[in-house]
Amino acid sequence: MVSKCTLLVMTATVVILHRTLCVAASPATPVAAPPATKQTTRTPALFLFGDSIVDTGNNNGIITTIRCNFAPYGQDFPGHNATGRFSNGKVPGDIVASRLGIKEYVPAYLGTELSDFDLLTGVSFASGGCGFDPLTAELVSVLTMDNQLDLFKEYKEKLKRVAGAHRAADIVSTSLYMVITGTDDLANTYFTTPFRRDYDLESYIEFVVQCASDFIKKLYGQGARRINIAGAPPIGCVPSQRTNAGGLERECVSLYNQASVVYNAALEKEIKRLNGSEALPGSVLKYIDLYTPLIDMIQRPDAYGFDVTNRGCCGTGVFEVTLTCNRYTAEPCGDPSKFLFWDTYHLTERGYNLLLEQIINRYGM
Ligand SMILES: *[C@@H]1O[C@H](CO)[C@@H](O)[C@H](O)[C@H]1NC(C)=O
Ligand SMILES: *[C@@H]1O[C@H](CO)[C@@H](O)[C@H](O)[C@H]1NC(C)=O
Repeated sequence: MVSKCTLLVMTATVVILHRTLCVAASPATPVAAPPATKQTTRTPALFLFGDSIVDTGNNNGIITTIRCNFAPYGQDFPGHNATGRFSNGKVPGDIVASRLGIKEYVPAYLGTELSDFDLLTGVSFASGGCGFDPLTAELVSVLTMDNQLDLFKEYKEKLKRVAGAHRAADIVSTSLYMVITGTDDLANTYFTTPFRRDYDLESYIEFVVQCASDFIKKLYGQGARRINIAGAPPIGCVPSQRTNAGGLERECVSLYNQASVVYNAALEKEIKRLNGSEALPGSVLKYIDLYTPLIDMIQRPDAYGFDVTNRGCCGTGVFEVTLTCNRYTAEPCGDPSKFLFWDTYHLTERGYNLLLEQIINRYGM
């Protein structure tokens, strides 16, 4: 089952070359030309693909241990509702949808009674524990990225029934798609389990980036055009990895951070290559750097008003995540807003808010 992800070699991007020539040929133009694809129209919907960072409850509907639909998860969500969001409150999809003026909460596609409004404004297909590597999801019985695409196809049929074929196609092509995954490929599948030991780190990273590339092409094939793809966080500084491999002092694991850096560079390069290319005409892809803002928050907690960035708020903050962060064994800390991490893997709502603020400042919406 190793490689559904085949290597695809493509020719250089004529588009970029052409643009360079155009700029060089018109030095006398007194006023700077406006950006080619400035997004001025309203974004009708937001769609989320990936792992627990953007899962808003899909895992409630499947049989897996990667779940969190119990307290203290959701303690700061309206109604203290543990919806299956992997945090104490809102998660990135909600924050972005709200900033885009679309809606306050992005529902999970699975197991939710979706209203027409939900269908028209977007849902999450993400599944906590998955990765671009299909094995990552299979190891913990969650949705693979291909499973998520299948749900998206099913969703599009429902959208057509609500909006009509023409408007549905318009919504699909003008909406924003956020793809956040990859952390579990490195942190779990590669560094923790024995199942990808036949790869060295470099070739595993190459494989994961190829899987990411294939996913982007398939999503484009389903009609998506504006796709933001996040890189990996500083995996070595995530509390669970400090505990697993950071020694007695629970230091950041530099090998793991280095893996994120190498992966991110390769992913960004691939995204730039695909962006607006002949293979994906009209695509507007963005690589979103999570590493830089997160490492800054971890290293300079004071600058962001955090007291603790090396362990989670739930329980001791050293072990607790998903099933082990529950109301019977793990009291949450008194004030989650003083913590960057909610459990040993996921940010608090305030952590996500500050992260997204930096991302929006840097990339726009
Ligand atoms: C809690 O969240 C679930 C899933 O989003 C939803 O179906 C339910 O209505 C919510 N309950 C309350 C009391 O808000
Ligand atoms: C992709 O192209 C758009 C212009 O169409 C540009 O704004 C964006 O920065 C490019 N993305 C990357 C990752 O280079």
